[in-house]
Amino acid sequence: MLDVIAIGELLIDFTPAGRSAGGNEQFECNPGGAPANVAAALSRLGSRTALISKVGEDQFGSILHRTLLSSGVDISEVSFTNEANTTLAFVHLDDQGDRTFSFFRKPGADTFLHSKDIPLSRIETCKTLHFGSLSMTHEPSRTATRTAVLKAKEAGVLLSFDPNIRFALWESKEEARQNIYWGMNYADILKISEEELSFITGTSDVEKGTLELQQQFEVALIVVTLAEKGCYYRVADHDGYVPGFKVKTIDTTGAGDAFLGCLLYKILENRSSLHDLTSQQMSNMLTFANAGGALVTTRKGALGSMPTIEEINQIIESESNTQFNADRFRPGFHFSPPTSWANDPNGLVYYEGSYHLFYQYHPYSNKWGPMHWGHAISEDLIHWQHAPIALFPDEHGAIFSGCCVVDWNNSSGLFKDCHGLVAIFTHADIHPETGQPRQRQSLAYSSDKGKTWQKYNGNPVLAENDLIDFRDPKVFWHAQSKRWIMAIVAGDHVRFYASDNLREWSLTGKFGREEGSHDGVWECPDLFQLPVDDTGRSKWVLIISIGDNPNCPEGSRTQYFIGEFDGKTFINDNPSDHILWLDYGRDNYAGVTWSDIPEQDGRRVIIGWMSNWKYANETPTGSWRGAMTLPRTLSLTSKDGSVVLTQMPVREIEQLRKESMVWNGITVTPASPFLQKMNEDLLEIEADIDIRSGEEVHIVLKSSGLSELVIGYDPVQQWLFIDRSKSGVTDFHPTFENKHGARLVSNGEKIKLQIWLDRNAVEVYADHGLVTLTDQIFPDAPMDRVEVSTPSGQVVLDSLQIHTLKSIHIPDAVSEQK
Ligand code: FRU
Repeated sequence: MLDVIAIGELLIDFTPAGRSAGGNEQFECNPGGAPANVAAALSRLGSRTALISKVGEDQFGSILHRTLLSSGVDISEVSFTNEANTTLAFVHLDDQGDRTFSFFRKPGADTFLHSKDIPLSRIETCKTLHFGSLSMTHEPSRTATRTAVLKAKEAGVLLSFDPNIRFALWESKEEARQNIYWGMNYADILKISEEELSFITGTSDVEKGTLELQQQFEVALIVVTLAEKGCYYRVADHDGYVPGFKVKTIDTTGAGDAFLGCLLYKILENRSSLHDLTSQQMSNMLTFANAGGALVTTRKGALGSMPTIEEINQIIESESNTQFNADRFRPGFHFSPPTSWANDPNGLVYYEGSYHLFYQYHPYSNKWGPMHWGHAISEDLIHWQHAPIALFPDEHGAIFSGCCVVDWNNSSGLFKDCHGLVAIFTHADIHPETGQPRQRQSLAYSSDKGKTWQKYNGNPVLAENDLIDFRDPKVFWHAQSKRWIMAIVAGDHVRFYASDNLREWSLTGKFGREEGSHDGVWECPDLFQLPVDDTGRSKWVLIISIGDNPNCPEGSRTQYFIGEFDGKTFINDNPSDHILWLDYGRDNYAGVTWSDIPEQDGRRVIIGWMSNWKYANETPTGSWRGAMTLPRTLSLTSKDGSVVLTQMPVREIEQLRKESMVWNGITVTPASPFLQKMNEDLLEIEADIDIRSGEEVHIVLKSSGLSELVIGYDPVQQWLFIDRSKSGVTDFHPTFENKHGARLVSNGEKIKLQIWLDRNAVEVYADHGLVTLTDQIFPDAPMDRVEVSTPSGQVVLDSLQIHTLKSIHIPDAVSEQK
């Protein structure tokens, strides 16, 4: 029994092949014809196929016969005629490999296919009949094609149809339209290009157009090919986009045919009824088809250039392609490095109108390696200008994390009677005698607002020979004792050193060996004072990041302590086992605050590295890796008798709002969820939710594909959570796919959620930043749909606002990033 019988044109495509020695244009003779290509694609993959067609009794007819035979297509239904010559098509390729055709078919042998040539009994017993519209341009092949289609329909054979419009071959557009309608009436599977869809339906909106066709013609599966963007499908009650593959295209002839051949192959392999295909199955099948379609464009011709299963699987898995797809994860409004690896924010300082962001940077790879300080500058904390690398590794080692301060009074003596920037960082190398890692503190300074940097020639300025982990200095001017204070971590505790000149440091205190969480090594400290609400009181906040521990699913995360700093050491207000977490998501680490933000502004602004050491080196972002969180303003508030941190994105983020939509008093029940398709994937959402009798409330952010991210609140457990198990690419690390959250006590059944959704991450702020969750996500397609639902009971959205957001990449900045 045959898997697929294709019926229709078989011809020679003449594709340009340069110029002869005499300067004349040359053409290469490539066997083709859409249905023949589909059959060849299928037999290349191992399906049993036959073609019903007609060629002339000429050399070209023989070539076609031979080529099909060697492609493994059954040619017993390909007959010869002397009524006309074999059909020829001259293909002209433009610079992109796109084609225009001149046909030699007035008439051509393929149009002389007669009804008597149709092997009805073979059709009756095959699994699929594939046809196009070009065998219906003229008689007798029109009737012959229709005879075959009607027989297949009657026998319950699956029918696949590709309109494949070539207006030059039709008497009129109207005739083309009528015959295509005829085909669609019988088709179970319709493969159509964007242009064809818009010709047939009059709309260029693929979602609308396919819905119309589905309703009008009852086609079970419609697939719209979108060239290198991939394809869109609609089947039963679901639809979606499946991204394409970036390849070096030289000839697009046969791309759609290879695509369809691969799709039919997968459909036959799958065996389930078209109506039962799930989105996961569709996505797998169409990824395979997209890969097949892309591969055939990398070589000339079609029929003889069809890809094998091995080639297809290889491209699906290939690294270069992962990289192409990965650029879709470049954040729209979070800071990301121009290319290569980035981790901790470093040297955060405001100076003479600019915010500086330095960061741990490995410019030669997308994995962690010898650390440099990358550099970016902003005037508003939102739009960043990439600057040259500020600090390179040197004879003392790599440049680990650290800070910058403005030395206003030239206490360091490094400037000539003026102020300037001093960077205090960890030099990391290997001890020449012990072979152990060695971490020592060093200085660099800049007299030109951070443009260029000199390393201090007395480096390192602080070393402790007995410590292996001794890093990430954070320095501030302590007005009360009129000296510089450095907080620096030493494995399982933080130390405080004091200095008058930033060059000579003396130990004043230690904190933490028995305090807080010790799930991992202590890293990246910060210490600062903040007012508590508007009580007139202040408290000191000590921030400590703790590294990954293979036994903790959370990976690396950040804790903080509230207490006092007496100029020498920190005193914890809370019991030693009381742990306060900065963020309950998985991707906010190594956060530190800006130094020297002017007093009139008065804000304490933090930014974190939006990743986790658990899987940071594995995320599927391609040629760059590691973005920052949004910069957030920190405040202290009293909650149930104790002081806690709250955080909200800096107000400058509001300038990104483009369009805003507002709803009030929407009741959500299991039967009537709230749904809004945004068509944009950079979003800010603000929801005031009254839980009422709702069992749980879910804000679901969805892609047009399979990805969805659930931000939920469980009023019984009083638990706010993120479930990213279906958020897209999750398989790069076993711990990535999960659900995690935090306790959030609702305010009389009411909660407020503010959400920022980017292409690689989501940030959730509950009740004005009392609880935050920051998570990376890698969706399969843009997340541009917002749904609010409840599994039972009733929830009321007192107010819901959704803002679409502008990207921070101005065109120039984007090209600079590439
Ligand atoms: C934190 C950290 C720091 C160190 C830096 C190295 O993420 O491990 O302790 O200085 O990264 O890149």
